[in-house]
Amino acid sequence: MLQERVDDLVGEVDQKLRNIVLTDIDLLEEASHHIIDSGGKRVRPRLVFLSYLAAGGENVDDIVALASAVELVHTATLVHDDINDHSLTRRGQISVHARWGRTFALLTGDYLFTKVYELMAPYGSEYNIIMADACVKLVEGETQQAAAAKAGSLDQETYRSIIGRKTASLFEAGARMGAMLGNGNAVLVEAMGNYAYNLGLAFQIVDDVLDIVGDPEAMGKPVGSDVLQGTGAVMAQNGRKDADIGVVSEADPIKKLMNQIRESGAVDIALAQADERANRARQALQQVPASPARDQLESLIDLVLAREQ
Ligand code: IPE
Ligand code: IPE
Ligand code: MG
Ligand code: MG
Repeated sequence: MLQERVDDLVGEVDQKLRNIVLTDIDLLEEASHHIIDSGGKRVRPRLVFLSYLAAGGENVDDIVALASAVELVHTATLVHDDINDHSLTRRGQISVHARWGRTFALLTGDYLFTKVYELMAPYGSEYNIIMADACVKLVEGETQQAAAAKAGSLDQETYRSIIGRKTASLFEAGARMGAMLGNGNAVLVEAMGNYAYNLGLAFQIVDDVLDIVGDPEAMGKPVGSDVLQGTGAVMAQNGRKDADIGVVSEADPIKKLMNQIRESGAVDIALAQADERANRARQALQQVPASPARDQLESLIDLVLAREQ
């Protein structure tokens, strides 16, 4: 069964990630293992494997390090993101900065990012350029988001640019590299990139909606953090209309604001946008030859839309 095969490969990714962070600096190793072992859906490595298989790749051993590198970029961003977002929990556990403090969380994130070089080295320049480009976009998106939050304004266009860079770019890079390594032709690589980019946009929009309507228990991370900072999909619906968002700092005003947002219809608008991106992802897949891997990629779209964690 394909699903079991992909699950096994994800197990190999987990092992590779645990091994690559071994060091005699105990704190770095412990903090790295803390975030790696804390779970996570492993959506990105699954996407890399399925793209490889959908392109006709046959030697899955070739792709494990690449899929691990993509997951490691993501892991590093989570460690840094929780510092920036002041989030105390991640994947149902205490976040790295809450446990070890900001300085060590920064260093742990740096360490994980740096280990990506090691995993990527065997793949040559073409792949490394794609990966570097995705990392640059990620930092650009995060910076754009922080700047918009600071300025107190977030319009639709800026929001779209932010989520394209901070989330969809890594999805796209993973799928492209997977398809390339699987020897897919140019049309297929393009289609896979297009699919994954739109999937990434939908993924982030749904994530932002869950920040408003989700169950923090199921998600393993706090809700309301976008509201607190003036970021996220629903905040982009009308720009940040409340001047008070900037001074919200206690739990109660946040709850009040979240209720106002829930009642405003912004969640439905955001979900409609996620649906639209999902349709584009589905369309892109039509250019990929039928296979069990393509079927799984199609199911992934529905999983992303329906996810509750
Ligand atoms: C969280 O990503 C950050 C976003 C891009 C929304 P995931 O939802 O993939 O996080 P894990 O890896 O499953 O914890
Ligand atoms: C996560 O972004 C980090 C990146 C996508 C680079 P968010 O801040 O939106 O995600 P969560 O909700 O903390 O997982
Ligand atoms: Mg963030
Ligand atoms: Mg966050």
